[in-house]
Amino acid sequence: MITGTGITKTFKQRGNVLGSREVQALRGVDFSIPKGGAASFIGESGCGKTTLGRIIAGLEAYDDGRISINGTEMSSLKPKDRQPHFRRIQMIHQDPYSALNPTRTIHQTLHAPLKLRAGQTGRDARWIEERAAEVLALVGLDPGSVLSRYPHQLSGGMRQRVVIARALTVDPDMLVADEAVSMIDVSLRLGILALLKDLRERLGVSVLFITHDVATSRYIGDDGEMYVIYRGQVVERGPVDTVIADPVHPYTQSLLSAIPVLHGLEEPGSQPVVPVEALDGSQEPTGCLFARRCPFRRDRCESERPVLQITEGAPQEHACFYPERRDVIARPMSGV
Ligand SMILES: Nc1ncnc2c1ncn2[C@@H]1O[C@H](COP(=O)(O)OP(=O)(O)OP(=O)(O)O)[C@@H](O)[C@H]1O
Ligand code: SF4
Ligand SMILES: [Mg+2]
Repeated sequence: MITGTGITKTFKQRGNVLGSREVQALRGVDFSIPKGGAASFIGESGCGKTTLGRIIAGLEAYDDGRISINGTEMSSLKPKDRQPHFRRIQMIHQDPYSALNPTRTIHQTLHAPLKLRAGQTGRDARWIEERAAEVLALVGLDPGSVLSRYPHQLSGGMRQRVVIARALTVDPDMLVADEAVSMIDVSLRLGILALLKDLRERLGVSVLFITHDVATSRYIGDDGEMYVIYRGQVVERGPVDTVIADPVHPYTQSLLSAIPVLHGLEEPGSQPVVPVEALDGSQEPTGCLFARRCPFRRDRCESERPVLQITEGAPQEHACFYPERRDVIARPMSGV
């Protein structure tokens, strides 16, 4: 079980002659991902998804909050003692091209982390070879034909499988897949998503999906939790099916309204939510972070910031003063 409480992160960005500016990337985010469970972080570019994923994987420091991995509170440990815990969480980046060293064969790529692990656990060279073949087989690659190749001799989908195999060499508790299929040929994406789902079922490894694509986040599994993030704040959180089928936050509703409708097969929802402004990244509002773009804002929204709270009669939480169900989802056309 991996939990986070009140995770906060501010970046100082070098600006123009007027000086630097601060970006609040995360604003007191809470999360909880059970062993073998699945979660997805979804939201538009710059909302803080990758920062949160990197913090969870121990690759980025946070300013405030607590992270606990399998019951051990990270802030209670010295930085060097945190590493073995964070190593249980492996990140899969979006670009399998840059994630692999082009001068190393797949054998060499897998050999390095396995050698380290063999040293820690007292295994021999034969175990390394067997384990390399095993992790490749787990990700659906034929060790015999892949081990001696270089990354450029593989397709994008195969390369991403090698990246996942390398992550498996440390027997992780969780894989953090950051836009893991966005740079892969569309025809190969489903295979990678199916693989991650399969690894969850077969190995009991948790999967955290980071994506801006609602359809991808749906694929994590029916029991997954979805976190909708807007400007560093979780604005809606709950079972993936509920959040997609019955969202109550206007921002979630705007994301779902933007999904293209299958022409001739589907009809759009009757109450699509379209933000009144395209983007709002400039000033720090005092009230609701979504207020400038929200078609439903009222006076209170401008002066007070809503916090995440339970939704009456529904399993998800929301951060909106005026949550409301709206018909935003496309549905199959009658008679089709
Ligand atoms: N190292 C950094 N230095 C300064 N600012 C940063 C840094 N990393 C992220 N940021 C800023 O923090 C905010 C959140 O960035 P982050 O990369 O987490 O967003 P994201 O949701 O992953 O976006 P995308 O969908 O484009 O990948 C952005 O405003 C970004 O510019
Ligand atoms: S609090 Fe107000 S501005 Fe914010 S999402 Fe809800 S209705 Fe819109
Ligand atoms: Mg990102």
